[in-house]
Amino acid sequence: MAKYLITGGAGFIGANFVHLLSNETDHEVTVLDALTYAGNKASIEGLLGNRIKLVHGDIRDHGLVHELVEDHDTVVHFAAESHNDNSLESPDSFVTTNVVGTFNLLDAATKSSKRYHHISTDEVYGDLELDDPQRFTETTPYNPSSPYSSTKASSDLLVKAWVRSFGLQATITNCSNNYGPYQHIEKFIPRQITNVLLGIRPKLYGSGENVRDWIHVEDHNRAVLKVIEEGQIGETYLIGADGEKNNLEVTKLILQLMGKSEDDFDFVKDRAGHDLRYAIDSTKLRTELGWVPKYTSFESGLEQTIDWYTQNPGWWQPLKAQVEARYASQGHV
Ligand code: NAD
Ligand code: TYD
Repeated sequence: MAKYLITGGAGFIGANFVHLLSNETDHEVTVLDALTYAGNKASIEGLLGNRIKLVHGDIRDHGLVHELVEDHDTVVHFAAESHNDNSLESPDSFVTTNVVGTFNLLDAATKSSKRYHHISTDEVYGDLELDDPQRFTETTPYNPSSPYSSTKASSDLLVKAWVRSFGLQATITNCSNNYGPYQHIEKFIPRQITNVLLGIRPKLYGSGENVRDWIHVEDHNRAVLKVIEEGQIGETYLIGADGEKNNLEVTKLILQLMGKSEDDFDFVKDRAGHDLRYAIDSTKLRTELGWVPKYTSFESGLEQTIDWYTQNPGWWQPLKAQVEARYASQGHV
């Protein structure tokens, strides 16, 4: 039994991770979450009690972060501003949360000699050509494109420097695009599912040729737990489940699974600087730690995700009007 501090544990991936810890370990868990527009207490509400606690606070609060880190064994850092479209519109909080917030956690974990695990993204590597035979690996040079990915890249570099200069006991994972329950409806897959549920046509940026390497959130989180338990200190592991699909294919599959015509969508204005393709080579994680994904069928993972949004309108419906109003102001409708 250990004491885990989970930052961003009321967000999409963090909340799913707290469910995993609650179901499959006996760890004590404290979630530190600022409950921004992307955090939702309801995602973990049913778990809260003696073993799982929520502290409503900000990783930019140096004093609070030091106090909490000192009182735990392991820090798992999910908290971030995470949406590219928002980062293009208002990058400030991406810099303060993703960079300065991460610094606070590294500083605290170093000073109190705690185990630290850093959650990052494949977007730090920039993008690939559609026909590039090489996928991202742990040695691919950093080349981020957006305020989001550049602030995530900055935070990864801070972790690497703290390991080397101060002996921080840290690991890093960089994962590809996640899908599954509790994902904020501003993101691609839940935006389209909830559009269809409300009779709105899905919205595809540009020509829909952009490729993402989809992984179910549960597979991501099981890999994170494995790296925390068995990974080598100082190492980075890429997490991916060979799930490359272009956005047009994903949109058509959502429409088909939801009983609509495959052509029932709109092409809308593209994203500035839109990364063309992400793809992960997860050989290191698979061979060194023996991780394998459970969700090998994207179609059945997507079906389960559609069911979750269909059955939980109370979780997402109150957010929909505001999300779509923001997309309207950005021209993505
Ligand atoms: P999310 O936006 O759904 O959740 C982020 C959480 O962090 C929210 O609960 C929010 O309230 C909290 N938060 C934001 N700023 C905070 C602050 N200053 N202090 C404390 N809490 C704060 O994000 P997500 O999709 O769950 O992503 C989690 C992590 O995984 C991020 O670090 C992201 O970069 C990384 N990641 C995401 C994906 C993906 O596909 N979503 C893929 C790879 C890596
Ligand atoms: P997103 O979920 O924002 O993740 P990321 O930008 O981190 O990859 O977007 C996934 C892909 O879907 C990306 O290529 C942009 C595209 N997209 C659309 O085509 N329509 C949409 O409404 C949204 C939100 C995204």
